[in-house]
Amino acid sequence: MMTQASLTIGEGVALISVERPEALNALNRDIVDQIDVLIDRVAEDESVRCLILHSDRNFAAGADIKAMASCDEEGAKAFCFSPTYNKLTRLSVPVIAAIEGYALGGGMELALTADIRIAGESAKMGFPEVTLGIFPGAGGTIRAPKLIGEALAKELIFTGDPIDADRALSIGLVNKVVDDDQVLETAMKMAKRIARRGPVAVRMAKDVINRGLLDNNVEKGTELEAEQWAKLFNTEDQKEGMKAFMEKRKPEFRNR
Ligand code: HXC
Repeated sequence: MMTQASLTIGEGVALISVERPEALNALNRDIVDQIDVLIDRVAEDESVRCLILHSDRNFAAGADIKAMASCDEEGAKAFCFSPTYNKLTRLSVPVIAAIEGYALGGGMELALTADIRIAGESAKMGFPEVTLGIFPGAGGTIRAPKLIGEALAKELIFTGDPIDADRALSIGLVNKVVDDDQVLETAMKMAKRIARRGPVAVRMAKDVINRGLLDNNVEKGTELEAEQWAKLFNTEDQKEGMKAFMEKRKPEFRNR
């Protein structure tokens, strides 16, 4: 197994990065498994006060379409990233997503697990799943409506159109937009500020906010989402949508 996710820890800040530039950091099962192990290490390290998710040039252009294309329903269930993503939501310390380039599909959904999002000015974000004959399968249908509201989440999820950083800022999908070369630095500065605050208080604040906003919903919601999502891998539309991506052409959906 190639190591494609790394962890560094210093000055109270942990940083998880993905390195798969040839596929714009698209996420496959191996990489998400590696991230899962790194999250456990972060959770066990008492020196960590804040976690940053950041990858060079592109946050992640989604889940790996080439790896998913031939999945059946069972395969899709096994591919689903929700258990790992839910771990990030449940991590006791704050998580900041520092977004450069594309954050699409499973990449956007990873960014949504963070407490705070910072984007570069040329970042492109969205949920292109419906262009592939599937829908967001890693918590996007639960976390996006909570964050930006039902109507905007439905617009992004039903059209599949990506949005730019300014629109993302205006709808609250990101907290801050900065120059592309300042993304990681800005996240680091914020993380270090958080790291200097009372750690028990910060952790408790996150827990109280999450329990008020998310509990009863995330686990149940992502279970339903994963079930329905996996069913799509029985459809001709999913096969056609992903085949069309790999053949670099427009899909011809037949509604079955
Ligand atoms: C696999 C991907 C990929 C992906 C890009 N690549 N995104 N491979 N899965 N999600 C690969 C391309 O095939 C290509 O490799 C290389 O990365 C560079 O991409 P290009 O398309 O040549 O780059 P560009 O023309 O700049 O277009 C960038 C792009 C486009 C607009 C981001 O790559 C794109 O549309 N990607 C797919 C985005 C997407 O639909 N994401 C959602 C996936 S579904 P080759 O070798 O072919 O040249 C999803 C569901 C999550 O995330 C559900 C939970 C598990």
